[in-house]
Amino acid sequence: MTVEAFAPAKINLTLHVTGQRADGYHLLDSLVGFADIGDRISASSADGLSLQVAGPMAAGVPTDGSNLLMKAAELLAAGRGAALTLEKHLPPASGIGGGSSDAAATLRALCEVWDLPLPETADVLSLGADLPVCMTPRTQRMRGIGEELHALPPLPDCAIVLVNPGVSVATPAIFRAMENRHNPAMADVLPVWQTAEALADWLRAQRNDLQGPAVALEPIIGEALATLATTPALFHAMSGSGATCYGLYADDATANAARAAVLADHPEWWVRAGRLLR
Ligand code: C5P
Repeated sequence: MTVEAFAPAKINLTLHVTGQRADGYHLLDSLVGFADIGDRISASSADGLSLQVAGPMAAGVPTDGSNLLMKAAELLAAGRGAALTLEKHLPPASGIGGGSSDAAATLRALCEVWDLPLPETADVLSLGADLPVCMTPRTQRMRGIGEELHALPPLPDCAIVLVNPGVSVATPAIFRAMENRHNPAMADVLPVWQTAEALADWLRAQRNDLQGPAVALEPIIGEALATLATTPALFHAMSGSGATCYGLYADDATANAARAAVLADHPEWWVRAGRLLR
């Protein structure tokens, strides 16, 4: 039996850092969406656990137990075996949850292959704070350190461009560089946005509190944001702790043209156009 699973890019449309726990982890309040741009996982019944990595972003991705995806598989295996493949399209360590989304998709696929219930949030949280939200790749509000999840109505139809200027960012360093860890949360009740324009208008009054520190540490992220600002994006910002930035567009044609324009200026950057998953 072979099961395939899509591991979509996770987009922190907002990321408010509202406090810090005694163990150092930060309290967040984030509107999380997913894009139809991502990695592909397959899991087949086999003896022992193995992983093969292919695809345009495969270089340097570990195939041993140090890969988060293998840690996720081991969490569930209890002696069971599976041959896993990862087709890597997302740049690693780039603020769009690549590793977490791969691990979550692996868990979804393995639960089908091994006929198991999906693991509880508390069990996957030990793999990473972004794991729980990636287990259910649809629009959610994420609070706590990533374990408090609230499903939201689908986002409006919206095209998206992802821009990674080629630097990988160490998340702990970005959190450490923050001057203020106690920022306001989002409103208690979020609006239901009917159009991409309404979503963009609302996003303009929100924040990614990691964006400032990330741009200060890696000025090229500021260049990615400035380049997105030259396109007809309804809104643009950084996702997660960076370095990937996103722009939202009214339709696919505008997003595709924006992608081409960014690539014309910066042929060495990773730039993809797609849609927000609804
Ligand atoms: O949990 P994960 O491995 O994704 O997080 C990487 C690092 O980012 C953590 O070790 C921590 O330093 C920081 N982090 C944090 N607060 C969060 C999530 C991550 O401080 N809510």
